[in-house]
Amino acid sequence: MLLLKRSLFLFLYLVASFSFVEAQNIFISNVQHRTTTSLNGKWQYVIDPYETEGMGGMPVYKNYIPKEESDRVEYSFTDGRTLWVPGSWNIQHPELRYFEGTVWYRKTFHQAEISDGKRYFINVGAANYLTTVTFNGEILGKHEGGFTPFSFEITDLIKEKDNFLIIGVNSARKADNVPSKVTDWSNHGGIIRDVSLVEVPTTFINNYFVSLDKSTLAQKTKIINGKLELAGNTLPEKARIVIPELNIEQELALNSNGTTDFSIDVKNLELWSPENPKLYKVTIEAGDDKISDEIGFRTIETKGKEILLNGEPIFLKGICLHDENPLRKDRANSVEDAKLVLDWAQELGCNFIRLAHYPHQENIVRLADKMGILLWEELPLYWGIQWGNPEVLEKAKQQYTELINRDYNRASSIIWSIANETAPIPDRNKFLSDLADYVRTIDDTRLLSAAIKKDQELDGHPDSVYTYNDPIIEKLDIISLNEYLGWYGGFPEECRNKTFKAGYEKPIIVSEFGGGAMQGFHGDKYTRWSEEFQEYLYQESIAMFDKIDGLAGMTPWILVDFQSPLRQLSGVQDGWNRKGLISEKGFKKKAFFVLEEYYRTK
Ligand code: GCU
Repeated sequence: MLLLKRSLFLFLYLVASFSFVEAQNIFISNVQHRTTTSLNGKWQYVIDPYETEGMGGMPVYKNYIPKEESDRVEYSFTDGRTLWVPGSWNIQHPELRYFEGTVWYRKTFHQAEISDGKRYFINVGAANYLTTVTFNGEILGKHEGGFTPFSFEITDLIKEKDNFLIIGVNSARKADNVPSKVTDWSNHGGIIRDVSLVEVPTTFINNYFVSLDKSTLAQKTKIINGKLELAGNTLPEKARIVIPELNIEQELALNSNGTTDFSIDVKNLELWSPENPKLYKVTIEAGDDKISDEIGFRTIETKGKEILLNGEPIFLKGICLHDENPLRKDRANSVEDAKLVLDWAQELGCNFIRLAHYPHQENIVRLADKMGILLWEELPLYWGIQWGNPEVLEKAKQQYTELINRDYNRASSIIWSIANETAPIPDRNKFLSDLADYVRTIDDTRLLSAAIKKDQELDGHPDSVYTYNDPIIEKLDIISLNEYLGWYGGFPEECRNKTFKAGYEKPIIVSEFGGGAMQGFHGDKYTRWSEEFQEYLYQESIAMFDKIDGLAGMTPWILVDFQSPLRQLSGVQDGWNRKGLISEKGFKKKAFFVLEEYYRTK
């Protein structure tokens, strides 16, 4: 009898907990330049280790609070436990250091003014990994993916007083996720980027793409192409684009579904480049909505073994980076966090950064636009991906759609990379080939690449000629190779006898090489973990790679030490990957100056 009662009660509770209101995740671009209220700060939280979404039969998102002394509520947001948003929960409380699972966050707020003719959305810059967004007791929807933005509408639910936003974030690593289960970086869980309340007119400009038509580069009158997308029921017939510095004020006819593709003639356009990161104020108006942005115009393409920026060959002096502020041990999520690492990269002499292995915070891309640093962006299609699982391909496409929607208008971002160190098996080849086609349908203005390994695979392989014939190269514009000769196999001096041969006439980027060093630990050049070993490895590796025919750039692994649970050598790693050229405390290692010298003379 008791068992029957229990299962009936469980059934009722499950039905109760899944009452979705039909809210879809709508992409709202350029939230930074919209009317917003920041919801960052301290949020209350409840952990949900068994992912039951409720305690004692009461869904957490319903925000039950006992009224009578006899009331039974088996969770509480009011017991003072808080988490900073944005931020990784793993670094905020010792008991959450390695917690992977679900945490429910609650933010309460008043909205003094709720105006007719306005719509309200909750925008989240990113939350790792599977997020359930609820508002005032209603589930709005879910978002999967730890590094891209999403928005849900609350117009019909928002009140002037006592609104409660409850967001459940599940950071559990799963085999059919993107990334999959094992990564050489910390699985920082939680709401890792800004949360804001966004107010827009009932019909608003939710997305726009603007770029320079590379076929007009050599012409005096160039063409700026664009796409515009409005959201709302009452769609205007016209929109307007204004670029004052270029004397552009052009009306755009909209289709019946509130979209349009447009082209604008432009004279005297100053091109964006690392030497001259020129940004133009661009304003788009439609109906009651108006959105402004700072956009640079440049072209990027390849010709034979060269990468051409604005039609001129460029060598990409790069470095790899994770989206972490080492000094705060936290996910990076502010302009200051971005400035810290971009300043270090510029000190190194870099004009290029590989943002590994997932979409980094938007602030770093926008700051790179301003500072004139070119970027490589990628999705975490990394070790252990279920290539044969069509749902995983859909997840990758969705994440790419969100990333491209967010960064399409950023001049600094020049390369989309679709994978890192993935073995060329048939399922993988098919998956990546489909994904490459998909990405090109959304954005044909940027270059495609993927970080691959040589045919011989093994680091330290005795062959003297390392060859590259991975079939996925066919689909890519750039051959990018990861090579750890001298660290994971062989000794640095073996670099002297190696040459590289690719089966394709395409530019080559060395997308990873390097070795670990404990900053401040010194020894002879064969003492593992010493700065001298890392210095020697850089000297030999750079000399080897510099001889590559078609070398168009490099991004050594990595600018600064970063956290990884795979690195447990105590007294040396202690949970940090030590391949940085700078320690987590900001101190430079000897190899930093080897690379700086190379870039100064290159
Ligand atoms: C790999 C991988 C990185 C990793 C690095 C390392 O090639 O792409 O994510 O951190 O090597 O071993 O340090």
